[in-house]
Amino acid sequence: MKSVKIKDKEFEVFIESTKIERSIDRISERINADLKDRDPIFVAILNGAFMFAAELMKRVSIPCEITFVRLASYRGTSSTENVKEVLGLNESIEGRTIVVVEDIVDTGNTMETLLGQLSAMKPKEIRIATLLFKPDALKKDIKLDYVAIEIPCDFIVGYGLDYDGYGRNLNDIYKLKS
Ligand code: IMP
Ligand code: MG
Repeated sequence: MKSVKIKDKEFEVFIESTKIERSIDRISERINADLKDRDPIFVAILNGAFMFAAELMKRVSIPCEITFVRLASYRGTSSTENVKEVLGLNESIEGRTIVVVEDIVDTGNTMETLLGQLSAMKPKEIRIATLLFKPDALKKDIKLDYVAIEIPCDFIVGYGLDYDGYGRNLNDIYKLKS
């Protein structure tokens, strides 16, 4: 079993890159069929989604645009509230079909915030493509259109996902050793 040490923690290989790529093949075929005449804009969320976005876009063969945004997190007025703001979206998305490209949906808090802010910019529709989804952790009522891989509530790294900034460059997905 392949394993890696990142900072103070040991991780073991969980999903091999060949399986990840097959899953991305599958959703990209659906996207190509569903959005053929819709001229979509893919909005990829940095940093985590960079690798997924690249692999996805290599397989999307319909006319489309891609742009990248970042979510700035900072503390809200109440000390426990974590406010996230979308930065870097310079394109007008009014009237457009948006496909949000995310690395992982865990509780769904991040996605809910993002959907709220994108909706305010009046797109025609918003779809969600995520590499990973932890269905047992979801706390929000969010419909995910294109899920590449569903996983249990383990903490994972690799393929864009990090532990404290490290591990994003791993080509396979690893999970924390228990
Ligand atoms: P949510 O808001 O709880 O859905 O969490 C989403 C964000 O938490 C993702 O965009 C990731 O940045 C991070 N995250 C959630 N689960 C993991 C994980 O297993 N490994 C690394 N990052 C994660
Ligand atoms: Mg993320």
